[in-house]
Amino acid sequence: MRIDIITCLPEILKGPLDQSILKRAIEKGKVEVCVHNLRDFADNKHKSVDDYAYGGKAGMVLMIEPIDKCIQTLKDNRAYDEVIYMSPDGKRFEQPMANELSLCKNIILLCGHYKGVDERVREHLITREISIGDYVLSGGEIAAAVVADSIIRLLPGVLSDESSALTDSFQDGMIAPPVYTRPAEYKGLKVPEVLLSGNEKLIEDWLADQAEQRTKKRRPELLD
Ligand code: ADE
Repeated sequence: MRIDIITCLPEILKGPLDQSILKRAIEKGKVEVCVHNLRDFADNKHKSVDDYAYGGKAGMVLMIEPIDKCIQTLKDNRAYDEVIYMSPDGKRFEQPMANELSLCKNIILLCGHYKGVDERVREHLITREISIGDYVLSGGEIAAAVVADSIIRLLPGVLSDESSALTDSFQDGMIAPPVYTRPAEYKGLKVPEVLLSGNEKLIEDWLADQAEQRTKKRRPELLD
């Protein structure tokens, strides 16, 4: 899979893509992530990519021209399943959408900034809008990193068997059961006996029961 991220602040994306699981996935060639600086597609001598909003309202708006040029350049080289605009107005990003997007071959994530992008971009250049939650971020970069992370960890060969995405919270509509590691007792706090029993069936049943109880208590709406 290939993920192209279009942004006017590429530095924000460097950190998240350069650590741990994502870094290894990129190095192992399980995914290709390319960050494109919108300023490289600006035609004016100041390399500006935004301008004042028509109508006199406060706030800068990303212009259509550099965005269009960038998307067209990418499209000249490959076909994209989705061109996604990161926006608080978009459809809420949840695990099923991550699962769906992980099946794509190529996607573009477009990050907005300031007051967002010229409406003509939203009307004509993108296939969908995604929000990571009902709050407004300063730009789409952190949201794009969230979406990229949740997709990449689902790709074949990215996670080891033991940290398999299938046992994640939400994958079976429930939150994950508790986990413990050594020592078996710490300052009188004990690991549940069943986990030390070596009885696989008992352990499986206990974990399933814990997941259900936790979900009922913390996120009952998931069980509806
Ligand atoms: N850009 C600004 N806020 C956002 C959000 N909540 N989700 C996605 N992109 C955004």
